[in-house]
Amino acid sequence: MTKIGIVGVGGRGFYGFAWPLSQKKEAKLVAVCDTNLERAKVVSRLIKEKTGISPAEYSDYREMLQEKIDLLVVTTPDFTHAEIAIEAMRAGQDVFVDKPLATKTTDCLKIYRTMKETGRRLYLGFNLRYDIVCRRIKEIIESGALGRIVNVVNADFYQGGKTYMARWNRFYEYSGGLFCHKGCHDLDIINWYFNLARPLRVVALAGVNVLHPGEIPFAPGKKRVGPYCRACEVRFHCPDAGRVESPLFSEEVAKVDSYYPDTCIYLSDKDTHDNGFLLVEYEGGKRAFHWECFFTPVSTRRFTIVGTRGHLDADLAKNEIVVYPRWSHDRITYSLVRGEGGHGGADANMLDTLLLAVKEPGAINFTSVREGIMSVVIAEAAELSRRQGRIVEISELIDWNDLAE
Ligand SMILES: NC(=O)c1ccc[n+]([C@@H]2O[C@H](COP(=O)([O-])OP(=O)(O)OC[C@H]3O[C@@H](n4cnc5c(N)ncnc54)[C@H](O)[C@@H]3O)[C@@H](O)[C@H]2O)c1
Repeated sequence: MTKIGIVGVGGRGFYGFAWPLSQKKEAKLVAVCDTNLERAKVVSRLIKEKTGISPAEYSDYREMLQEKIDLLVVTTPDFTHAEIAIEAMRAGQDVFVDKPLATKTTDCLKIYRTMKETGRRLYLGFNLRYDIVCRRIKEIIESGALGRIVNVVNADFYQGGKTYMARWNRFYEYSGGLFCHKGCHDLDIINWYFNLARPLRVVALAGVNVLHPGEIPFAPGKKRVGPYCRACEVRFHCPDAGRVESPLFSEEVAKVDSYYPDTCIYLSDKDTHDNGFLLVEYEGGKRAFHWECFFTPVSTRRFTIVGTRGHLDADLAKNEIVVYPRWSHDRITYSLVRGEGGHGGADANMLDTLLLAVKEPGAINFTSVREGIMSVVIAEAAELSRRQGRIVEISELIDWNDLAE
């Protein structure tokens, strides 16, 4: 049975890992850690109510590393991943880091070097790789039906993304910007579809054009707006009012760290974007375009992929892929059926694969650190590009020879 400790038991740590893992017979959730110890205690209590076993609670992950655990799951905010992963590996611990690997290329390289020096394993959490539509697209590409892939166009429409403006995610310092925090999923899939071709250069445009004070979607009159939805005098008029129902973020728990994930998404200060476009050129004449938007009322991902032998359109919300072979009037439609659970069943698929990979090290391919670095470097280049208004060469950020085996 794999003994697991989780550091960072907020939304993702609890709902994506602690809760499902505590109910798996192949795993034992030994300990949970959160800088807000009250949150760790709530998690421990909820798990005890369900399973009868309460994991130990810590507020400092270094102390938790004294526990005998097989895998440390890191689900803290993105900017903390590097420090925690490095410390843990140095302490002799294998780790799973949920996406993104880190927020900066330099931090990714430090993780990579530590992994090499310590010989520890690092599993990287890209759950989109376990999405049934994304996987089937990969199979279609590998079958050769599209020929050599030349163009990938992708859009991430995510209405839940507006809540980033209420939380730490809205600051570049903490998330690496949303091209890193959110876009890394899409960039990773694009890299995967291009068979890990090296990215060469990036150009991006992005901004905050809707989720700012000038776009509050009602007339507040004399009423006071914000600062948090639960305290806002006009929350009943606001179509974007957030309701925090999770016991992880109750008033009681928030007293410890003043973390209110219902900060007004219009009034909050922020330095990342609510919509953005990025273009990447890869070696071998491949090009990709990624669009992300967080005020859209739609939630889906779309891919258009064009190769030398065909064209593919896919929509993750419709669970549908259509392939148009070149030089033909045929069209082949794939209608897929999703499994249960978070992110359309992808979380459950990833968790099962992770447990197998930890049980039999080396037997199963899991997303590698090298692959994790690729999406971060593109995202970082995109942030530089949009802030400095120029095309950014990937060679400004990384020398691929540093990743030589
Ligand atoms: N793969 C996915 O689909 C997916 C979805 C959501 C979030 N995530 C990732 O999960 C991570 C957490 O995101 P979230 O939305 O759950 O954030 P969150 O704010 O809900 O939770 C983060 C938790 O980490 C705790 N924390 C912060 N620094 C810590 C430290 N040094 N040691 C211990 N605990 C610490 C916070 O107190 C908080 O409880 C991020 O890396 C995010 O990118 C992945």
